[in-house]
Amino acid sequence: MSIDLPVDELSLEDAKSELDRLHRLIEKADRAYYQDDAPDISDAEYDAARRRYMEIETRFPELRRADSLSERVGAAPVDGFAKVRHAVPMLSLGNAFDDADVADFVQRGRKFFERDKNLELAFTAEPKIDGLSASLRYENGIFVRGATRGDGTEGEDITENLKTIADVPKKLSGAGWPDVLEVRGEVYMTHADFAALKKRSAEEGGQDYVNPRNTAAGSLRQKDPSVTAKRNLKFFAYAWGQVSAPIADTQYEAVQRLGEWGFVINPLMIRTTSVEDLLGHYRSIEEQRATLGYDIDGVVYKLDRLDLQQRWGFVARAPRWAIAHKFPAEQATTILHKIDIQVGRTGTLTPVARLQPVTVGGVVVENATLHNEDYIAGRDSFGAEIREGYDIREGDTVIVQRAGDVIPQIVAVVPDKRPAQSKPFEFPHVCPECGSEAVREVNPKTGKLDARRRCTGELICPAQAVENLKHFVSRNALDIDGLGDKQIAAFHAEGRIREPADIFRLAEEDTRSLKKLKDQEGWGETSAKKLFAAIDARREPELDRFIFALGIRHVGESTAALFAKTFSNFEAFREMAFRAGKGDAEAYNTLLGIDGVGDTVVQSVTGFFANERNEKAIDALLAEVKPKDYVVSISADSAVAGKTVVFTGSLERMSRTEAKAMAERLGAKVSGSVSAKTDLVVAGPGAGSKLKQAESLGVEVISEDEWFERTGQA
Ligand code: IVH
Repeated sequence: MSIDLPVDELSLEDAKSELDRLHRLIEKADRAYYQDDAPDISDAEYDAARRRYMEIETRFPELRRADSLSERVGAAPVDGFAKVRHAVPMLSLGNAFDDADVADFVQRGRKFFERDKNLELAFTAEPKIDGLSASLRYENGIFVRGATRGDGTEGEDITENLKTIADVPKKLSGAGWPDVLEVRGEVYMTHADFAALKKRSAEEGGQDYVNPRNTAAGSLRQKDPSVTAKRNLKFFAYAWGQVSAPIADTQYEAVQRLGEWGFVINPLMIRTTSVEDLLGHYRSIEEQRATLGYDIDGVVYKLDRLDLQQRWGFVARAPRWAIAHKFPAEQATTILHKIDIQVGRTGTLTPVARLQPVTVGGVVVENATLHNEDYIAGRDSFGAEIREGYDIREGDTVIVQRAGDVIPQIVAVVPDKRPAQSKPFEFPHVCPECGSEAVREVNPKTGKLDARRRCTGELICPAQAVENLKHFVSRNALDIDGLGDKQIAAFHAEGRIREPADIFRLAEEDTRSLKKLKDQEGWGETSAKKLFAAIDARREPELDRFIFALGIRHVGESTAALFAKTFSNFEAFREMAFRAGKGDAEAYNTLLGIDGVGDTVVQSVTGFFANERNEKAIDALLAEVKPKDYVVSISADSAVAGKTVVFTGSLERMSRTEAKAMAERLGAKVSGSVSAKTDLVVAGPGAGSKLKQAESLGVEVISEDEWFERTGQA
């Protein structure tokens, strides 16, 4: 990081090399931001670089390069999507950084129009949404094409992706819209959707997401629109491009029109003639920033009258009649003392920076997220450099940023201040909570290494214990009556239950305990007895349920059933997985050879059984429970053998999975839909269209009880 001399003090020679340096920096940042959706420097640094670039060009016009960046916005579009030329360029905005800049802006306007007697200029003020801009073209009220901004002149055709956004009307409503209407606005992701996606992805071993803006950008550039559709992106309309007829006389009214035609417009837009009101609105928006639920990075002021906008005109890359008043960069410099590793409920190891407390934007920050080990090493999830490739080390001086209510991040390190003896951070390969191996999985869908490292101690890791115990007793697993999430959490907190085996020792432990369950709040003699009985009743669980209950990653109900069917008893399954984990290729291939079982599952299963602590926990558990052998005696002589059966409505005596397994055991085929080939429909309460379909086709319909009678299982 060079020490910036004021531009006035630069020699011609220094100015030239400085301009070249900034040119490279801005181009690189543009590419990172617009093409890779992975900014490599902070907005504040970028703005400062742009400003300094302009200052040098203004002070030394002779140094202006033929490829000057002052005329360019963003980066050229990436390959892959068709290019779209914008009929009206998509411009950028000049920036104001303080109240004085805003007053100057208004003053410039008043000066420009000073000859117009009695003209009082009105301006609008609205949030600057931190997403990415898009242009939506409507012809005769129908959405025909949508594009990204690209370099402002040419963007990418992302019509199909934009069609998946609920806020983008496919057809305009109301009346009075021009035949050709290009609506412009911002695509963004809410904090809630971002958090949900991040969580889901962590559970599924998908990629790590750093912030809503980049995620929205990545989502919009998906080749497969169904992926975009799942991201629940949103859109605010705030401007327009080509129009075949004027849509209003003022900015404010034009935006209201867009609202009437079906677009979502931001509710925080005002119109005023006074600078004080503009600044007042800015502060009010700033105060609401943390609770808006989406990221904004400033307030945009625009001259209200459209005829006057036209007269005031444009400078190279931005309109003269509008300006973005940026929020102060919520950044501060501090020291990173230590990197701690936290283990999440699903076993993810998350690095957290413990900082010398520092005030950032009025809030004391002591911790910041470091996302994952690649992030610490200076790489993004595609392996590209971030922070100019600098890694993050304990003892480093770092720049911390807080934006809205997003968790503080470390956006840069100050390499000059790095202690001489510092060493790269070594990300642990064992779980700090339980000592089990922590691994990075390969995502089966993308073939990429997961950014997160995960603890393999599913059964014994205290950080994961509560979640796993809840899973163990859940409805489709061991399904223990009266032992739900609430009870598990309480028993775990009291130390009564730490691992699955403890559940089955609960009654015995209770006889020895001084704090009897029946005396605890919420319990009594009867309820405690009932619970112990319910637990006892599950000492011989079905094999598929038992395997599912272990909570092995990637082993859901159906995969558990495949293992149960293939191996018939638990020991055989365990033995095979154990051998495979020890490097026995034949055993590994046996697992892989099961139809419906892939690499990810096999890796997860072998990893699970290779973990000694899991093994111990299973031994303890098997001392208490005896999973039933899986009998696949398909009877050819049952009343339903060879018949095609459909279950519909809610079943009360068995789960769907159980019903299916039972029918198959009895030689029936289970189908999901009713057709002429269906022989029998078992309908529970609430059965709907399938029941109707059966009746109209004359297919026999019976109740769940009748099913048990007929199959002789009652
Ligand atoms: S008006 C000709 N209004 O900020 C004026 N832009 O830095 C066009 N942005 O490219 C822009 N919120 O992506 C405008 N309320 C708002 C905005 C907004 C976000 C973005 C937009 C634009 C960038 C300029």
